[in-house]
Amino acid sequence: MCGIFGCILKNGEAAPTIHGALKRLEYRGYDSVGTATLHKNKLFIKKDNGKIDEVHALHDLDNLPGRIGVGHTRWATHGAPYQENAHPHTDCENQIAAVHNGIIENFAELKMELEERGHVFRSKTDTEIIPHFIEEEMKEGLTLVEALRETVKQLDGSYAIAVVSVKEPDKIVCVRKESPLVVGIADNDVYCASDIPAFLPMTNRYVIVQDGEIVVLNDEGYEIWNILDWKQVTRNPEIVDWSPKMAEKQGYPHFMLKEINEQPLSLRNTLRLQDQYLDLMTTFLDRAGEVFLVACGTSYHACLAASYMFSKLALLATHPVIASEFVEQHGKSVNIDSTLLVVSQSGETADTLATVDGAKLRAATVLALTNVVGSTLTRVARVYICQQSGPEVGVAATKTFTSQLSVLSQLALRLAKMRGKISHVEIENLEEKLEQIPDIVEKNIQTQKEKVKQLAKKYRDKQCFFFLGRGISSAVALEGKLKLMEIAYAPSLAYPAGESKHGPISLIEPGFPVIFICPKDDTHKTIVGNIMEMKARGASIIVVIEKGDEELKSLADEYIEIETGLPEVLSPIPFVIPLQLFAYYMAIERKCDPDMPRNLAKSVTVR
Ligand code: F6R
Repeated sequence: MCGIFGCILKNGEAAPTIHGALKRLEYRGYDSVGTATLHKNKLFIKKDNGKIDEVHALHDLDNLPGRIGVGHTRWATHGAPYQENAHPHTDCENQIAAVHNGIIENFAELKMELEERGHVFRSKTDTEIIPHFIEEEMKEGLTLVEALRETVKQLDGSYAIAVVSVKEPDKIVCVRKESPLVVGIADNDVYCASDIPAFLPMTNRYVIVQDGEIVVLNDEGYEIWNILDWKQVTRNPEIVDWSPKMAEKQGYPHFMLKEINEQPLSLRNTLRLQDQYLDLMTTFLDRAGEVFLVACGTSYHACLAASYMFSKLALLATHPVIASEFVEQHGKSVNIDSTLLVVSQSGETADTLATVDGAKLRAATVLALTNVVGSTLTRVARVYICQQSGPEVGVAATKTFTSQLSVLSQLALRLAKMRGKISHVEIENLEEKLEQIPDIVEKNIQTQKEKVKQLAKKYRDKQCFFFLGRGISSAVALEGKLKLMEIAYAPSLAYPAGESKHGPISLIEPGFPVIFICPKDDTHKTIVGNIMEMKARGASIIVVIEKGDEELKSLADEYIEIETGLPEVLSPIPFVIPLQLFAYYMAIERKCDPDMPRNLAKSVTVR
């Protein structure tokens, strides 16, 4: 998730405006920053890795000539956060500059083709193919807008792109597919950006660009064109009435709620990971003598769920281990045949990194799944995958958890394929269902919000909560418990439901809330028994069920219905959403700050 911006000013210099806008987009990523302006038929560029303030201190981002320009703040995906990977990227002749937010899935083959035709690349990014393609098209006689249109026709993936060219120095051309893009219209000036806050101090009039549309910005304003039929689109500006504080969170009251709502997008990004890395990691897993899945907190819950995925799909037994326990539990036995798949959103968690150090000393192979390219974990792992969730500001992990689940399920599926453990029909079905998850999650967030909010109102004063699930849903129960405890300070327990009667059930007294996670999988029949045990002791039964599960509806005091149609191994993704929302609304009801829970930090760098 990067931030892009462009502006055409009637008067004044673009660079300080771009700098200010990028600061307001910094929440989208801060690995590197760059600006390109046009002046007297020349392109001026400043870019470097580091946070905006650091780069500004070194290079003075306000000091570039010209009233037209584009800028970018980067969340590294393809290529580490080095200066040469910072945007804007240019063509061979430094005539065209492009900024991009998104992922070009087929960039490797396109890059190869361009190199064969003599183009010289300076970065490892997917973005750089864009100015080179435009360069070719413009040499064929196309205008900038036509050249961008022809270029995006060749791209698979997601993008919001803005380009300038010295050959047409009076305009910015931008285009969108699946990555956000808005146009801002002021009396004299016009802007394009990944998000409204970028231009909010200058104007509150905006137009949303839709997928498959190209926009030309110039001194007259904006023109929108549909790429497919090349017809002009008329869309009048709307007015946004956000305060600057609200704008930071795109109108949401908290980052946590914003990030819960971003899950359809972050999940879509996990479906665009490069095959070569997924395949490489799968090969390592296939060859391993033993596999440990190691992490802390929420990431550990993703590992626990993944152990069911690997076992059920690929028939691979894995050991999920809490990182802080790894050395004590397995430190002496781990060896050259051991493989650790280490999961860490931040890539900086001290306990997780200590595990890696210990395991590497004993010659084990370390694979990593993280959200932060350039983090320590990416440097110490043999192979790593970036889950591409974009920055997560709320302390409680939400979108990064569901993304971890998506990536881990893809690995399990690939391994199953590689080992020939499941049929083609099953593979196709799972692949199809994986693709559907972002839409399913989007629908569920919308339909569940109100219901969950009401539940939080009703249960806000309860002293303690119990979360139970069987099979893969026991990981969801643990995650639901962690969310509620950490942000609403509600003491909670979670167990595999079958284990509840081996002790914890003694806590139950009339009205004790017990939340059951109940997808319609093989555990459904058995969990009915567990519900009955709790019900008999007067517990208040809250069930999270699949839509139409009349049996459990009739047993429960409250129910939340999930529209899924997903196989068991993928069910944790939609089933955790109402639990995230429940924790959020409970925090609000109990007057806690969900974004900054007491005593916690986003990245725990001490042991
Ligand atoms: C809970 C949460 C923490 C982290 C844990 C590991 O909402 O965010 O439990 O999951 O501190 O962090 P990473 O994944 O960065 O290693």
